[in-house]
Amino acid sequence: MSKILNEFLSSNLQDLKDNGLYNEINVVRGANGPVIDIDGEALINLSSNNYLGLATDELLKKAAKDTIDSHGVGAGAVRTINGTLDVHVELEETLAKFKGTEAAVAFQSGFNCNMAAIQGVMDKEDAILSDELNHASIIDGCRLSRAKIIRVNHSDMDDLRKKAREATESGQFKKVMYITDGVFSMDGDVAKLPEIVEIAKAFDLITYVDDAHGSGVMGKGAGTVKHFGLEKEVDIQMGTLSKAIGVVGGYIAGTQDLVDYLKVAARPFLFSTSLTPGDTKAINEAVKMLMASTELHDRLWENGDYLKKGLETLGFNIGNSETPITPCIIGDEKTTQAFSKRLMEEGVYAKSIVFPTVPRGTGRVRNMPTAAHTKEMLDEALEIYEKVGKELNVIS
Ligand SMILES: Cc1ncc(COP(=O)(O)O)c(C=O)c1O
Repeated sequence: MSKILNEFLSSNLQDLKDNGLYNEINVVRGANGPVIDIDGEALINLSSNNYLGLATDELLKKAAKDTIDSHGVGAGAVRTINGTLDVHVELEETLAKFKGTEAAVAFQSGFNCNMAAIQGVMDKEDAILSDELNHASIIDGCRLSRAKIIRVNHSDMDDLRKKAREATESGQFKKVMYITDGVFSMDGDVAKLPEIVEIAKAFDLITYVDDAHGSGVMGKGAGTVKHFGLEKEVDIQMGTLSKAIGVVGGYIAGTQDLVDYLKVAARPFLFSTSLTPGDTKAINEAVKMLMASTELHDRLWENGDYLKKGLETLGFNIGNSETPITPCIIGDEKTTQAFSKRLMEEGVYAKSIVFPTVPRGTGRVRNMPTAAHTKEMLDEALEIYEKVGKELNVIS
């Protein structure tokens, strides 16, 4: 065993623990619903991305089981060899309808989508303007593309306009892209897409929206781009199938040419085995459900508004969220972790999120209410928040 590696690992782990940055991972026994079992304790779960409660939906479970019976448990190969199944094609047709685009292509994860599409389209002769609070998978996808990365201040349209002008007028780049989360996952604010599209038109920017937290949540379920009616204006829409959709995977939606090109150029499509048939069918059912009814979406927003109002009234700093994502911003990392630990002891599972997921000094407990929570669960959570908040002097 390498001595250098062992020293590197132990000193870094110790350093993280000393600074309150080491994340203890809990094991959930059984299903990931609004109440979960951790170490035999039933906890109100405010930590999942299971926005609509679909992760445990009976219809989806049946669709997955039936498809396992008819198609088996694995896709067998990468898509280009013989891993493209009839259920993949069916799903992609549903996704294109859902997003209002010509076509869509599914990937094994949302993370993979950003590896696939950013690197597939951008190259070292290009530049990518990227919001400074973009998700890690966007950052990694940008790095992988070898394009010049230009950070843009968070949702700052003057900064975007200035940097778009500089990049395009420099004549140094063949293509320039602006990439942004549709809904910012740690704060719950929404990208200013109408202004972004206007700036993109002025400077011929390629627009790319990662709607991992917008799909199922914004636009009556169809996402942030549809919320603003910009399906024909945004070039590349990415979404996950692991959050509101409740299963796993991701997709890119756009023109037929974009999708055709990614199928020959995107490395996770070419070199990683495709989504399992059971998951694919369950996803298809979930998307069809969202297209048929806004009931779950409406319940999610009702619960989100209720929790937000309750936490704000108690005196918590919930930032500028415009969606059900409700951070309680504590600041100091160690206090944030202590706060989350006490919540858990009292019966609420709301994980602390600290650097490097969010900037240093902005540690938070992020609450993710879902359509599956009852008012009683949310009231109980609020009582616990009040008790722990006062105990740790986070609220007065
Ligand atoms: C904005 C954003 N993009 C991409 C991803 C990755 O999605 P997945 O978990 O499906 O790989 C996430 C997940 O947290 C996300 O929040």
